[in-house]
Amino acid sequence: MTLRIVLLGAPGAGKGTQAQRLAATHGLVHISTGDMFRAHLKQGTELGQRVQDYLSSGRLVPDDLTCAIVTDRLVQPDCAQGYILDGFPRSAPQAEALDAFFTDNGQKLDVAVDIAVADEDIVDRLSARRSCPACGAIYNLKYGPSKRGGLCDRENCSGELILRDDDREETIRKRLQVYHQTTAPVIGYYGNQGILKTVDATGLTPDDVFARIEEILCGLKGA
Ligand code: AP5
Ligand code: MG
Repeated sequence: MTLRIVLLGAPGAGKGTQAQRLAATHGLVHISTGDMFRAHLKQGTELGQRVQDYLSSGRLVPDDLTCAIVTDRLVQPDCAQGYILDGFPRSAPQAEALDAFFTDNGQKLDVAVDIAVADEDIVDRLSARRSCPACGAIYNLKYGPSKRGGLCDRENCSGELILRDDDREETIRKRLQVYHQTTAPVIGYYGNQGILKTVDATGLTPDDVFARIEEILCGLKGA
């Protein structure tokens, strides 16, 4: 079964953590708009320069730029095996643009999974997040540290772990505000389509959240 999944959730809800595991388990392509923008920033491309201020201040990149980067990615041949969208769509116009892409390409979304976490937990989690700039692995000083301290412990990687630029308290609070104003309505959008599943992840470990999502995917296969 070719799966097409959207992962919804506030900043720090665990979208990237779960998307990496789901991609590895089900052979899906992991598409994170945040990771794509950060890669452009790192490479110093024109797009990177255009999005820099948005990322560092925690505001959303304009919909036209974001939708273009996603639809360009979705037509790549590897996406025929199925994919997980992590951090997209994040506004009603983005959700509508994704539906237009599906209509044009004879595809459909199987499920939108909302990973729900209380705001109080977000700042705590994100200020302790450490990321590997080399391979993208995600760690947490409190909830899932690297076994090698400040270095990535994935096989064949020894990247030096960093605190993401936007994981500073003031920017985290701005991202949360943007989430509640602009992104939370996307949950209702998929609810109305009847393809929304919610995982209440407050207080759950990453393993527990993964198990809940796997149950949801099993239900789809059995449907
Ligand atoms: P993006 O990179 O998508 O950031 P985000 O949505 O703010 O989400 P995060 O990546 O911070 O969190 P996550 O949910 O992936 O959590 P993670 O798994 O890392 O976007 C960055 C910026 O790019 C945006 O602000 C915007 O400017 C721009 N952008 C991106 N997409 C856009 C779009 N569609 N439109 C416009 N602009 C866009 O986990 C977080 C931490 O918690 C980690 O340390 C992890 O180890 C830990 N953790 C995970 N699960 C658990 C658990 N169950 N218990 C305890 N700790 C946990
Ligand atoms: Mg992420």
